[in-house]
Amino acid sequence: MPNRIPKAQADLGDLALHEGGAMLLRRAIAPLREGDLLEICGGSSELVEQLPAWCRQQGHRYLPLNKGAGFHWIERGASDPPLIRPAQELAETAEPAWGLAPRGATVEAGGPAFSFPLRRKREVWAEELDAIRQQAANNQWSLIRDISWNALPRLAPELEIAVSQAMTFLTENEFAALYIPARFLARIHPHYREVLEVLAFQVTDEARHAEAFTRRAEAGGTGLGTTANSGQLSLHTLLEESEFTTAVFLLCVMGEGTFLTLLQFLEENAPDPVTAALMRYAHRDEARHVAFGVSHLRYVLQREPERRPALAAAVERRSRLLASISGLSPYVHDALVILAGGGLSPEQVREGARRVAVLHREMDRARSERLQALGFSAEEAVRLSAHHTKNFM
Ligand SMILES: [Fe+2]
Ligand SMILES: [Fe+2]
Repeated sequence: MPNRIPKAQADLGDLALHEGGAMLLRRAIAPLREGDLLEICGGSSELVEQLPAWCRQQGHRYLPLNKGAGFHWIERGASDPPLIRPAQELAETAEPAWGLAPRGATVEAGGPAFSFPLRRKREVWAEELDAIRQQAANNQWSLIRDISWNALPRLAPELEIAVSQAMTFLTENEFAALYIPARFLARIHPHYREVLEVLAFQVTDEARHAEAFTRRAEAGGTGLGTTANSGQLSLHTLLEESEFTTAVFLLCVMGEGTFLTLLQFLEENAPDPVTAALMRYAHRDEARHVAFGVSHLRYVLQREPERRPALAAAVERRSRLLASISGLSPYVHDALVILAGGGLSPEQVREGARRVAVLHREMDRARSERLQALGFSAEEAVRLSAHHTKNFM
């Protein structure tokens, strides 16, 4: 090959290509341009056969050389696939062709286009994601390590049955709260991985809550209570919601927001330390889920305030669908009254019913406040809160 000067050299020592020589070769050839020469020196006798084959496979040209044994030339071809450089910073829109590449990575072009329907930042983002993720990571708890199950006393039968009924109701709701983020998780583009992480923690939290509440019901010996149609109908309308922001609004702001008040009530009125501890831990997790909901809604509404009426309409639509439900299921209502009153005597029932009435007012007040914090007018907030499902979630 007269008149041509190699642009670079690669010393393979005595490595054959399958012994790691191919890696050294790839690194040496990568910075060269199409048509540049690479000179290879190597002592392995296998290179004479391996190099021409490797060049054919990689799209380069092997050039015969009379320089002597142990020296070879390769002319670089143009076989590298073109590269895409996705946005290194958060983009407003993520491209399907970025696929599963982590944000910041370079991507070979020509890969499959993944279908992630939620690929606009505005559809999924929230400002406080970092703080929420950090809290979620720090506050994971274990129902084996952190709950003293042997501190569970033998309760009066009416109290134990009431606890089990409350746990049954909570668990149904935990399943809804698990399925909704889980379903949306798979639709969100990985460019917005912080959202995926927050939702993944949420799913883990709900799975733990479901397990904890079921276990508490079983631990007392009476087993689980009854699931009412009214509760299931209410959750069914929630699971049907197909739009992410609306689902987050209904679940995390309206539903889990209401559950914060319920969990606090159950902690205060728990007849045993195990139930109280479970309510306390679950409340801490739910506060985080509500924080994500409020933060996401704030992000969306700051940019698209015109979406507020559609969110209000979603609450009203649910209310119409649930018009046949007159109120909270008697199973749940009665259990709350017994727990709050401490028993079944008329005096206890009077006190329990009074406290449950206060609970409803407190839930309503907290919902209205939360709605106003999202920019709904006081009047609208009161009206929407009143339309919220009587089954709390
Ligand atoms: Fe939960
Ligand atoms: Fe939750």
